[in-house]
Amino acid sequence: MTKSVNNHDDALLGLLGEGGFYSGQELGKRLGVSRSAVWKRMQLLSAKGVAFEAVAGKGYRLTQPLELLKQDEIIAAMSPSAQSYLQQMEIHEEIDSTNRYLMQKARSNAKTGFACLAEQQTQGRGRRGRVWVSPFASNIYLSLLWRFNQSPSELGGLSIAAGVAVGRCLDELGVVGFGLKWPNDVIWQGRKLAGILLEMSGEASGPCAIVAGIGLNVTMQPQAAQAIDQAWADLGMALGTQVSRNRVAGLLLQHLLLAFAVYDQHGLTPFIQDWQRWDGVYNTQVKLILPHETITGVARGIDAGGGLRLEHGGSTTIYHAGEISLRTLK
Ligand code: BTN
Repeated sequence: MTKSVNNHDDALLGLLGEGGFYSGQELGKRLGVSRSAVWKRMQLLSAKGVAFEAVAGKGYRLTQPLELLKQDEIIAAMSPSAQSYLQQMEIHEEIDSTNRYLMQKARSNAKTGFACLAEQQTQGRGRRGRVWVSPFASNIYLSLLWRFNQSPSELGGLSIAAGVAVGRCLDELGVVGFGLKWPNDVIWQGRKLAGILLEMSGEASGPCAIVAGIGLNVTMQPQAAQAIDQAWADLGMALGTQVSRNRVAGLLLQHLLLAFAVYDQHGLTPFIQDWQRWDGVYNTQVKLILPHETITGVARGIDAGGGLRLEHGGSTTIYHAGEISLRTLK
């Protein structure tokens, strides 16, 4: 793997992250900066949502444990075969969007197997032009660039494969009761736990580059969550305990790399069984919102190409993703 910069080596957060109180003077001494420089940096971190307390006579302390992303720990959480597909990794302290960044890299000949993670996104992109709320050091924001040999028309099932990859990661983490909602929302107890955004660059006749972006809520900041316009969940709720963000990032990247390598060779078939296992809307009443109409019917799983089988008006029609939104009807 190409050794790449981990450009958020934050010595101050590194020290505070160890726990305990540090006076401004001690922090300044350890970091080789003035007390006022420490104070300014603390204000910046506070604005990012990092909660700390300042106690007279004791100093500063984080009020919540904080684990920053580290390349070595992410890689250590991955299987050797997944590691072999990873060509490059970058971790950014702050970026507009990891997907936008890799789409730009895709246009400048970056290699397949290039992963980009961020502690925070200022313009996180969701599907259908929505915003993906991406507060600092709380969740996973991961994008992967992959160059497929197939043409875009053969990649119709890729969003299903990406959903299954997230499902496999959650399964390995021990999450119980999650579901996949076509084409690739990840739901826990009716609330959104993760989202996937696939973006494509290439010619209609192929080959093409895909940037797969995954946002997985790990420990959502309550303040930031106020901006989310739908019911949400995080891994803390789903597991009932805190989990290492580096381990989650490693497992997520592992399953995504392996899924894309398998899809490249064998297409969607190896993913159908796991999709069926986790299909969260199978045999339920749903509403499909198409660009110019809305159809209600009963979801009957997916076909061999990853299209949704919707039964309505006495027959079953296959719908393909794109600008379609699916809502469950209760
Ligand atoms: C959705 O709307 O369900 C898709 C959300 C995808 C969010 C992820 S976070 C990492 C990557 N970078 C982005 O800007 N978006 C994706």
